[in-house]
Amino acid sequence: MCPDLLDPEIIKQDFPIFKRRVYGKRLIYLDNAATTQKPRQVIEAMREFYQDYNANIHRGVYRLSVEATEAFENARKKVAKFINAKESEIIFTKNATEALNLVAYSWGLNNLREGDHILLTEMEHHSNIVPWQLISKYTKAKIDYISIDKEGLLVDDEVDRLMEKRPKIVSITHVSNVLGTINNVKKIVEHAHKIGAITVVDAAQSVPHMQVDVQEIGCDFLAFSGHKALGPLGVGVLYGKRDLLEDMNPFLGGGDMISRVWLENSEWNELPWKFEAGTSSIADVIGLGAAVDYLNSIGISRIRKHEIKLTKYALETLSEISDLKIYGTNNLEQRGAVISFNLANIHPHDLATILDEEGIALRAGHHCAMPLMNKLGVAATARASFYLYNAESDVDALVEGLNKARRIFKL
Ligand SMILES: Cc1ncc(COP(=O)(O)O)c(C=O)c1O
Repeated sequence: MCPDLLDPEIIKQDFPIFKRRVYGKRLIYLDNAATTQKPRQVIEAMREFYQDYNANIHRGVYRLSVEATEAFENARKKVAKFINAKESEIIFTKNATEALNLVAYSWGLNNLREGDHILLTEMEHHSNIVPWQLISKYTKAKIDYISIDKEGLLVDDEVDRLMEKRPKIVSITHVSNVLGTINNVKKIVEHAHKIGAITVVDAAQSVPHMQVDVQEIGCDFLAFSGHKALGPLGVGVLYGKRDLLEDMNPFLGGGDMISRVWLENSEWNELPWKFEAGTSSIADVIGLGAAVDYLNSIGISRIRKHEIKLTKYALETLSEISDLKIYGTNNLEQRGAVISFNLANIHPHDLATILDEEGIALRAGHHCAMPLMNKLGVAATARASFYLYNAESDVDALVEGLNKARRIFKL
């Protein structure tokens, strides 16, 4: 076999969940855009923490605490290297949502005012819309949205037109969680910087699946969630450029984020701890470090290659099903491993229920992207999203399940 290609059946052996049966059938997990399954290595790293050196970090001088602190900060090193950042620029949050809120509140609230513009796109997840709507209410800054075309790609002319309004901040998703569209964030960041805007990249759907290099993109901030990258739930990451982070006020106040506290005021801790108030999700951060090790051991570019191959196969086979409408582009260079679709007028929830009986876990709904659903003219879609452990046989099972749905609904 070509060493460049992954063998999902071998990879699956690292994921204990695939041993289980669903209604007596093998589990076909196609909801990776929502959250991913965890390899044994991640589960083991977290178990080891709780079993062998559970202690709070940064404060203790005793052995357990020193070990916990080392493991925690070591995970930060791994994450920083993974996206080509400096350790001091990696802030652990609860998830991507909290990371985006951190930028909105700590940067937006202090830097935006009436007459300013915030630039987003129509394909954003609610996590990259709602925080800005809140900030817009407080500051009276206006939000503009770059529209998408029929293929689900950003309209270039719209980017140019809206940049002319000289937005103070441009916050865009790298990969759409509905359409799979991969946006040319490097180009948009360059354009935004030319007009003096600050840039934020929502990388929740890209960091787990393709090489993301913050230096190469050049963005000011970048957010993602550990749980979508084989890591545990409860930990996210915000990358931010040092000078910007230095200038910003903390998002949350409390322990760990201060250097000194008086009754009247406080002095902030150094980066990155200035933005990590309270006890962190220590085991989760350590688990994320193990997830990064795992992804590195497989190779992120091999994962991307595997996903391109699988997406191509899925787009081809799904397009043979009559009455199936697939959203997004067919250009695999511009598409991640996410396929949203509707089958005739069957409600996506009914589809998901029929597929569930076949052991297929697939998402149906608005995918936290209601403005995008409005744009597509639907209330909901079904969505299959793949990862390194998915195989062509999973796609075949999906096709079979959809044909079963056609029979049930007498299409
Ligand atoms: C593009 C995108 N951004 C942000 C998020 C929010 O991630 P989380 O719920 O882990 O904060 C998601 C989750 O689906 C997403 O797909």
